[in-house]
Amino acid sequence: MENIKTIETREDAIKLLNTALEHEWAVSFEYTVHAYSMPKGKFWYTDPVMKNRTDARAQTIQIGIDEMYHALQLGIIITQMGGTPSFKTDEAVRYPRIIDNLKRDKMTEDMVTSLYQSAKFKEGAFPKIQNMVLNISYDEVRHSDQFVSMMEAIKKEGAEEALCFQSSPENADKEEVQLLHEITRLENELMHRYLRYVMLFSEHQDLSQRLFKNSIDHMRHWDKNSGLLIKMNDVIQIENAEKDAKGVERSRSPMPDVYPGNNRLSALETLLPAEETLIARYEKLLALVPDGEIKDQLNIHLALNREHLFTQEWLLKNARKIKGIE
Ligand SMILES: [Fe+2]
Ligand SMILES: [Fe+2]
Ligand SMILES: [Fe+2]
Repeated sequence: MENIKTIETREDAIKLLNTALEHEWAVSFEYTVHAYSMPKGKFWYTDPVMKNRTDARAQTIQIGIDEMYHALQLGIIITQMGGTPSFKTDEAVRYPRIIDNLKRDKMTEDMVTSLYQSAKFKEGAFPKIQNMVLNISYDEVRHSDQFVSMMEAIKKEGAEEALCFQSSPENADKEEVQLLHEITRLENELMHRYLRYVMLFSEHQDLSQRLFKNSIDHMRHWDKNSGLLIKMNDVIQIENAEKDAKGVERSRSPMPDVYPGNNRLSALETLLPAEETLIARYEKLLALVPDGEIKDQLNIHLALNREHLFTQEWLLKNARKIKGIE
């Protein structure tokens, strides 16, 4: 990550914000994947600020969500300044040992704190942006301290060698597991895509808030599906990842970096086929899964995606009724 030292012009400010956005976008994904690869309610630490016992997995997901909000804030301000948000992502990595992922996450936090805190703003140039950058940087300081506490607790328990969940080799031939991987990837992509449109339409609360609600639903599905994968003796995949001899997975393109649509109509048009594809995949999967807890959960996701499709169809029809809407 390139530190941007001096902020004098609008271009400098947009460049700083876009560098930060690329980072926030990537880590929101990476931290959540690290969390989804850990057992629930197994590793507890005492949170340095809240002073209570906290589940490391749950808190890592919460940190991932904080990063999504950082990305959203940055994207909205970039759009308002007339810039174009960039979604190029950094490399996503997953180590076999839980503690190594937390170590990487802590280093990432320190790196981004330095990006934010080393930016020197020309006095009076962009006071609100300077304030925002400082505010975000102290969220990162807090995250770094949380990751340190998690690692200390794991070491104290003698659990340094604890491993992430693994994909069971026999799942490669199981259609239902492979379908759930595909669905989980689509849920993640749609969550991020809706967020991208929230940035695009941030000047108008009606559209942006409706799209934000759908983004949150996809986040919840992504979260629940990751838990279902573990019940199926699997674990969330990192797209386009290669595994080395030591079992370290690395991907240079863990998420799409371009999202279709650049105005109200073209963006809304792309969401219908995306929701339809997702619904069709859920229907196919549900036909393969026996009655029980997993099926019940998948049915909840299917139902909400059907509701999204209804909403999106009307958002598009209504936009088409109004001449000259951008
Ligand atoms: Fe962040
Ligand atoms: Fe952070
Ligand atoms: Fe949906």
